[in-house]
Amino acid sequence: MKGVVILFKFIVKGTGFSSVDPKNVEIFEEALFCISESGTIAKVILPEDEEYQSTIQAYSMKNQFQNLKKGQFILPGFIDLHIHAPQWAQAGTALDLPLYEWLNTYTFPLEAKFSDLVFAEQVYSDLVSQLIKNGTTTAMYFATVHRQASRRLAEICSEKGQRGLVGKVVMDDPEQNPEYYRDESPSTALAETELFIQEIIELNKRTPQGVYPVVTPRFIPSCTDASLKGLGALAAKYDIHIQSHCSESDWAHDFVRERFGKNDAFALDDFGLMTEKSVMAHCGFLSDQDMKLFAETGTAVAHCPISNAYFGNAVTPIAKLLNQYQVEIGLGSDISGGFSPSLFDNIKQAVMSSRMLEDGVDKECCSEKRGVSNSRISLNEAFYLATAGGGQALSLPIGRLAVDYAWDVQIIDSSELPIFSKEEPLMAIFQKLLYLSRPDNIVEVWVQGRKVHDKFMKELEVQM
Ligand code: GUN
Ligand code: FE
Repeated sequence: MKGVVILFKFIVKGTGFSSVDPKNVEIFEEALFCISESGTIAKVILPEDEEYQSTIQAYSMKNQFQNLKKGQFILPGFIDLHIHAPQWAQAGTALDLPLYEWLNTYTFPLEAKFSDLVFAEQVYSDLVSQLIKNGTTTAMYFATVHRQASRRLAEICSEKGQRGLVGKVVMDDPEQNPEYYRDESPSTALAETELFIQEIIELNKRTPQGVYPVVTPRFIPSCTDASLKGLGALAAKYDIHIQSHCSESDWAHDFVRERFGKNDAFALDDFGLMTEKSVMAHCGFLSDQDMKLFAETGTAVAHCPISNAYFGNAVTPIAKLLNQYQVEIGLGSDISGGFSPSLFDNIKQAVMSSRMLEDGVDKECCSEKRGVSNSRISLNEAFYLATAGGGQALSLPIGRLAVDYAWDVQIIDSSELPIFSKEEPLMAIFQKLLYLSRPDNIVEVWVQGRKVHDKFMKELEVQM
């Protein structure tokens, strides 16, 4: 086509939704998303732009043009900031128990089985495929204490095309962890972690979408002072991500206060574990001082609303963290404290939990005192957590439809959703997409410019 030089790998024409900030969603109507060779969004051309028609023609002629079908919409791929990969094998199991009993009776025995690489392969392979089908393009995983199986999880992410941040879990305190499932000593925990970090840094060199090692003390109660200190030093040495649990449940929160005379946030900070690249799950019991420390250190909260309904003992005050303290926040499924692999489900629960926090729940209490005012979050805010908020938490250019961000998207087909009017406003459709989409409505998933899921192609070979 005269005047149009082919600069992009391919172009997708469609309508997409992306967060501008926590409260506002931008609609790109019938836009051209121009994808670079490296899988990022190089340019967005709008219908009113001069080169719109000529670009469509030029790229159609080259077979590098995808025109989304009527009723299909683009959302950024979701970012699951907190998920325990081995616990996929017990999703939905024993959620009637409190956290401590659930860990000891079900979770530690299950995780111990991941010394078996055949079992690990089976569970991890299925989980990563399921997450992709649910629209999750990036996940920050806890694996288990086993280095080899943890490495296998990172390799599976690499092979299936998902962006993965993976941690070999450290739990070395013989007082708190069962004999059959723990690191042998602080020094072996640290040596295995360092070897794991080096292996994943190597793997990342042949993984276009990125796989990253994560320093992963399970939570303070499971770790000795020596391992916590050593892990902080390793994170600094390699400048890598950190993840843990923070102030989750009365029991875990009180345990740390008794051991250190301070809350989790300050105790973690003493060990160098609160950094720009840290992600702390749950955070139901943060004090105002703790929240300030999160904001100052750039530490992010992984909000896990489904899991918190079972184990959290409180609703995490997301509106306060976002609006009053500007803390970075994303969304986590926390499989299997949360039963669902879908961040669509967690978006809904985030909104519902915040409404219950605002209104309160005990009818015996008068309405003025029943809840915590200004606690509700909007659907836009929950969507932000699952997308742009997660990207910001990880300090990665993901979670938005914007120039220089990765082409990590899910294409949703709305033709089976209850949309009966041709005049339905796009924001109303957006709300239906979030509230009513099931995995079956997700027709394609892309990560870093490569298609990793196509509903109509059974086994998709991800091109390296
Ligand atoms: N605290 C320590 N380990 C875990 C875990 O596996 N799940 C949850 N929800 N909390 C934890
Ligand atoms: Fe967790």
